[in-house]
Amino acid sequence: MKVSVIVPTYNERENLPELFERISEALRDYDYEIVVVDDDSPDETWKLAQELSEKYNVRVIRRTEEKGLSSAVIRGFKEASGDVFVVMDADLQHPPEVIPSLLKEIEKGADIAVASRYVPGGRVKNWYWYRKLVSKGAIMLGRLALPKIRNVRDPVSGFFALRRGVVEKAELNPVGFKILLEVLIKGNYKRVVEVPFTFGLRRAGESKLSGRTMFNYIRHLYRLMRWEGELDRLLKFSLVGLSGVLVNEGFLWAFVHLSWDKYIANIPATELAILNNFLWNDIWTFRDLRKRPLLQRLLSFHAAALTGALFQWLVYAILVWIGMHYLLANLVGIVLSFVVRFIFNRHVTWG
Ligand code: GDD
Ligand code: MN
Repeated sequence: MKVSVIVPTYNERENLPELFERISEALRDYDYEIVVVDDDSPDETWKLAQELSEKYNVRVIRRTEEKGLSSAVIRGFKEASGDVFVVMDADLQHPPEVIPSLLKEIEKGADIAVASRYVPGGRVKNWYWYRKLVSKGAIMLGRLALPKIRNVRDPVSGFFALRRGVVEKAELNPVGFKILLEVLIKGNYKRVVEVPFTFGLRRAGESKLSGRTMFNYIRHLYRLMRWEGELDRLLKFSLVGLSGVLVNEGFLWAFVHLSWDKYIANIPATELAILNNFLWNDIWTFRDLRKRPLLQRLLSFHAAALTGALFQWLVYAILVWIGMHYLLANLVGIVLSFVVRFIFNRHVTWG
């Protein structure tokens, strides 16, 4: 088994000597190459890497036309000659000593082994609590939006190993910069394993990923949801919801015309709307995801409706209490309840 360690770099000159030394120490029992993909760094990282290739088995790709972290890694996938690829940063926030544990998992049968900050034993050094919160919140959002990766605790890690076949035929989009996310959605694989590690401190130089990071991440999630068909489901779910409003109003009107009590008539009208929505979601929106028995799906759908309603009321009450106009507060409540019901149903009812 030959290993290719792919390292994207931009102005990492000061980190290279220690990085190469520690990789070669960690991989002394393996047949390996290091593939540096540098975007023509002003500090001439590529040049130092070339010089160091006399001492270590390093191949340097100096790109002058293209730029960007993800596209650099994808280029590395194309150039690497190994059977297993390892992707890692150059700044030593990813300790090379973890590579053998990733490779062990691949040898044991995993297709992808992720060095993870968020499985027991993993951690980040020196992050303020709010930085952790933002990081974990962003990951939670991704796992909710993309059910395929909901079991991966750190799907945005930049440190992982995979079998060549996982990415060989995959259509990876170089625009999004969370390359692992892209691989987890579009790659060909069965088994993902996470290995804990400590995300250390940058040894030298400075981070390049900041500013519009969050915005780009959301855009990336949106693109991947579209690719996965989750956006279509969301649309279908909304159309079904609208049909439910009509059913609800229609039956309410009919019952009241039959001289039912107005306070009571609302209840069967709502239940009929829920049944209508369940039916259409079951045979249309989530048709391909009918795994649980019908009765379970039906009960779960009701639980989602109830959760949504409680949520809507809670949001409404809180917003009115802090002084928002009650109509606006209600609107916010409705939208949030919609999101909650979609997520509940996507992950539980048809999960
Ligand atoms: N070729 C190339 N082109 N390399 C780049 C570019 C680029 O445009 N931008 C960054 N890199 C290289 C850096 O030189 C470094 O080796 C690696 O990519 C990571 O960049 P950092 O700037 O150190 O990123 P970070 O520490 O903020 O983010 C890391 O941690 C995140 C998790 O919190 C990365 O590993 C992310 O992928 C990861 O999601
Ligand atoms: Mn870094």
